[in-house]
Amino acid sequence: MKTAAPPKHSKILILDFGSQYTQVIARRIRELQVYSEVVPFRVSAVEVKKLQPNGIILSGGPASVYDKGAPQIDPAIFSLGVPVLGICYGLMQMAHHLGGEVVFTGRREYGAGMLHITNGSQLFDGLGNQFDVWNSHGDEVTSLPKGFVAAGRTESSNFAAVEDRQRKLYGLQFHPEVAHTPRGKEILQNFVYHICRCAMDWTMGSFIEEACERVREQVGDEKVVLGLSGGVDSSVTAALLHKAIGDQLTCIFVNNGLLRAREEEVVQRVFGENFHIKLKYVDASKRFLDKLRDVVDPEQKRKIIGNEFIYVFQKATEELLAEDRQGKGEIVTASPPGGGHGHYKFLAQGTLYPDVIESISIGGNPSQVIKTHHNVGGLPEKMHFQLVEPLRQLFKDEVRQVGLQLGLPKEVVYRQPFPGPGLAVRILGEVTPERLSILREADTIVQSEMESADWYYKVWQSFAVLLPIQTVGVMGDQRTYENTVALRIVESQDGMTADWVRVPYELLARISSRISNEVKGVNRVVFDISSKPPSTIEWE
Ligand code: XMP
Repeated sequence: MKTAAPPKHSKILILDFGSQYTQVIARRIRELQVYSEVVPFRVSAVEVKKLQPNGIILSGGPASVYDKGAPQIDPAIFSLGVPVLGICYGLMQMAHHLGGEVVFTGRREYGAGMLHITNGSQLFDGLGNQFDVWNSHGDEVTSLPKGFVAAGRTESSNFAAVEDRQRKLYGLQFHPEVAHTPRGKEILQNFVYHICRCAMDWTMGSFIEEACERVREQVGDEKVVLGLSGGVDSSVTAALLHKAIGDQLTCIFVNNGLLRAREEEVVQRVFGENFHIKLKYVDASKRFLDKLRDVVDPEQKRKIIGNEFIYVFQKATEELLAEDRQGKGEIVTASPPGGGHGHYKFLAQGTLYPDVIESISIGGNPSQVIKTHHNVGGLPEKMHFQLVEPLRQLFKDEVRQVGLQLGLPKEVVYRQPFPGPGLAVRILGEVTPERLSILREADTIVQSEMESADWYYKVWQSFAVLLPIQTVGVMGDQRTYENTVALRIVESQDGMTADWVRVPYELLARISSRISNEVKGVNRVVFDISSKPPSTIEWE
């Protein structure tokens, strides 16, 4: 098993039994400035020991311990001498494997409840005699394993909190990690600081130093190439790698012709001029737009844009190599073997921790592909690159902190997500230069009004969509017959679900009147009041 964190950190290991809250637990622990790492429930006791955690948390999960094929822990983990906190299904695992009794009650206890402390536990230090908790479980512990005592009860269960102080094993039937258990943070704090004796040594300052060391070790004096999109993840990756290896890093910024207004200028200014990062700017807009001519199907658009990106990126890497060789006075005759990128052996990517966790997830709810997302997928395989992924330990909020510490401007660090296929999926139907220009103007107005009203950073995304629907309007004494722009302003945690934001009417009015007055070709603005699901955030 690959471990990401150096052992010098305190560490809480989270065994994932498929709970929707596993990532929440991991983030709660990180908020305590303690490193947390999620591993699949199948991990063996031997592997756990190698990882040297200060404590272990067993997540909840949708299964019943009696289900056929229900995920089961390696019971030897309970004898490692490492403190264990079992949450919900984690508690059932503990009781089941250590000789207690668990029954499937047939009814799920779901929702708010009150925990009454029946026996002081270190877990509940400073929390008083009772507090609100959030339940979501079907199994129930009916008899405790040897050595365990009850520490708290709820209305429906005498064993809602249990412990074996000797062996440092703790179990909670409720979920301390969710906001509906308001004192949950203190419970986790008690476990992490007082029972597991973790130090608060996970800081972004120390992360940056260690990540730089790791990158230097990984790449030696080889060269690294990075596809810079201007989004948060690739921008922070660029800044971090630049700190670690300076000019061994070259960023490639591809203008696919589907960017927002002046985006290419901003990226060149921030990274080229301010950071002095080696930046290769490739204007491939004509190529992309040619390929997109007459294409109306959204998935077809994505496919074309994805393939073209790989082609352009590969070509740019070959050009870099040729430039390097010319610089050294070598004669360039043909592409070198091994995929054509010569000694650009490494490709950097802004992979984040949620992607890493998802790829090891045990299922539960495998997310279906609704839209094929175009990132740099396919590049490493096609070009035989080795990956450099310095952010793969971090959650998004940690990435932002790292970005700020590295000196990236707020506009980059807190910018809203922008889809890889860009404005192509915000123009319904065919993408043409005229439509792009209309949408860019409308989009610029949306962004600038959102910023002046202090709403831009409060929402997940705010943008304009161009509908190729012409409606009748009137301007002066003239009848008009022009396009419609839809406004989409949504809030979301991760893009998986979203709701439209109730921004003030005055702001909507300003955006609407500016777009209809200033953008030629638009005479109507509508506001999208759909949530996700059933709609998606982008219109295509
Ligand atoms: P949807 O439209 O699926 O979007 O609700 C969820 C989030 O993903 C972004 N998105 C994309 N990002 N390539 C990307 O890199 C894509 O093809 C793509 N489609 C949607 C979208 O902006 C939102 O943040």
